[in-house]
Amino acid sequence: MPAKIAKILCVVGARPNFMKIAPIMRVFSRHQNTLSATLLHTGQHYDAAMKKSFFEQLHIPEPDIDLGVGSGTHAMQTAEIMLRFEPALDRLKPAAVLVLGDVNSTISCALVAVKKGIPVIHVEAGLRSYDRGMPEEINRVLTDQISDLLFTTERSAAANLLREGISAERIHFVGNVMIDTLRYNLARAVEPSTLFSAAGSEIDQPVFASGYGLVTLHRPSNVDNPTNLKSLLTQLRSISEQLPLAFPVHPRTAQRIEEYGLNQLLCSPRILRLPPQGYLQMLGMMQHARLVLTDSGGIQEETTALGVPCITLRENTERPITADEGTNTVVGIDPAKIQAAVDDVLATGGKRGRVPEYWDGQAAERIVEVLINWSRGQTHEAEAAAG
Ligand code: UD1
Repeated sequence: MPAKIAKILCVVGARPNFMKIAPIMRVFSRHQNTLSATLLHTGQHYDAAMKKSFFEQLHIPEPDIDLGVGSGTHAMQTAEIMLRFEPALDRLKPAAVLVLGDVNSTISCALVAVKKGIPVIHVEAGLRSYDRGMPEEINRVLTDQISDLLFTTERSAAANLLREGISAERIHFVGNVMIDTLRYNLARAVEPSTLFSAAGSEIDQPVFASGYGLVTLHRPSNVDNPTNLKSLLTQLRSISEQLPLAFPVHPRTAQRIEEYGLNQLLCSPRILRLPPQGYLQMLGMMQHARLVLTDSGGIQEETTALGVPCITLRENTERPITADEGTNTVVGIDPAKIQAAVDDVLATGGKRGRVPEYWDGQAAERIVEVLINWSRGQTHEAEAAAG
């Protein structure tokens, strides 16, 4: 009798999920006689710049299902995903649901699956900022509690999970799928000079050609609070006098800048304001930057993998290895501390750092290997139960 093929329903929703699913789908496609992957997009991110360009650049297969939920408050978005996910799950009857990271789509789909008795696989489990004011922290803690298999990116994650009562045999340290994607695509990264020359006379071209910093901001704690956002943009304006800055602006941030009347702070030939960029454009800009200022989680990891100094504009990080071993310095949003960190990087070149264990481009391979063994175990259990 041919071995049963386990159907894994893979869920993506928001931009950071896309670079994480790419290597997993690629490895799945080589094991089609054991595992079959169906891709479902909740539609949390839907703009071409936030979704389509990533699927195209990373050669992610078009989703088999798109729930088309769009934006809303946390309650609306979470509820809408759950409502639309349930019938898809009933129809597909997968052996397991695989979710990634910490976005609203992650917890919504995990919660629907677990209540239907369908095992949940969580990729990037166990990260903790210990800041419950962060919506992602709630998503992380809850998703981990209801997951059957938990794949971690750094060793601190298993310690967090064990403290929360999750049993060791469910936890697998496999490395970082986001870094799989980075390594796989580095040779295709777009040279930042292309973006700079496209800006023409809007920016001071020779100044950018001699070195620049890269900025990203989108955390609600930074951008949804007018005082914090104004303070950060004022500080960025001042830093741009030392080092020109390229700033691809997230849609949430763009809305807030407009709403709070802060556009003027970014009008300078030493600041290149850009719309959200594709993966290969961001990779090129990160790789060649003298420093990166960010509140993103993924960018803290990517800069560590690239050996580029990162200054994190948050009070904490759920990815402590980037600060302990990598190039990351977590400074918060106090202007004096940000300035001191920038001065230090410009004077010394910043932390040298080293690439963390298992951030070697093989994380998706390890995940699929565990899943193959797990699905064999499930089959044996089912056969034993059937006598
Ligand atoms: C979400 C994730 C966050 C992740 C980020 C990456 C949650 C709780 N947060 O935050 O962890 O780091 O994605 O981008 O899931 N919008 C558009 N076009 C889009 C999508 C969103 O214009 O394609 C605008 C909408 O006005 C929306 C706002 O951005 O209201 C925020 O989108 P949302 O998905 O709620 O959260 P993000 O801030 O993107």
